[in-house]
Amino acid sequence: MTQDTPKIVVAIDGFSSSGKSTMARRLASQIGYRYIDSGAMYRAVALYGLEHGMVSADGTVDEPALIAALPDINIDFIPLADGSQHTMLNGVDVEHEIRQLRVSNVVSPVAAIPAVRHILVEKQQRMGHDKGIVMDGRDIGTTVFPDAELKIYVDASAQTRAQRRFKELVEKGSAVTFEEVLANVMHRDMIDRSRAESPLRRADDAIAIDNSAMSLDEQDEWLFREFQRTIKNIMSE
Ligand code: DC
Repeated sequence: MTQDTPKIVVAIDGFSSSGKSTMARRLASQIGYRYIDSGAMYRAVALYGLEHGMVSADGTVDEPALIAALPDINIDFIPLADGSQHTMLNGVDVEHEIRQLRVSNVVSPVAAIPAVRHILVEKQQRMGHDKGIVMDGRDIGTTVFPDAELKIYVDASAQTRAQRRFKELVEKGSAVTFEEVLANVMHRDMIDRSRAESPLRRADDAIAIDNSAMSLDEQDEWLFREFQRTIKNIMSE
């Protein structure tokens, strides 16, 4: 890529644990773009709610209290030396905390609240204002960046996704069973798909990929080719 190569927005949407974050992070590092994990922002709001008694462990949300607290919830990302990013909640690194099952179990009802979505979508749009960004989530290609130059919709079976998530959690030392993780994945799928506000759906102009049987390298190569093709098309317009 040269100085004249146009910068674009890459929107990657899909179900939880579809591998979209890995794809997005790896592409961003390969092409020198900023990577934003929008799910981490919803997770940070859910964590704040849990810690302040506005969200209970069973996912019941005191909506008026959480909405009133939104101006006090500051979410940021800090880049680390190894190229990864950590999520900061009011100045505290919560990267580890937001990935725990206690947060996963309550994040969907929090992410279904319109006021929460409005505030986070605006923040995401500001982050993408200057392009050169890869963002992953559920509504990036449909709501956050409907004009994104490259939109990807990632799919994989619930079993495959639960298997990946289970492996990740076990490696991080969590004492969970596969059945718990599968139940969580399926329950979140249902909420993400059926909520009234910005449900997960494939944008009409998104390219779909089922990565259940793909290796990481195959995924990377496929995505990089799509990126190059998009840039080439823009430059020949
Ligand atoms: O991708 P994830 O599992 O970390 O996402 C956490 C939750 O946030 C999940 O329930 C879906 C929701 N989410 C969303 O509603 N919109 C996004 N753009 C990203 C995530």
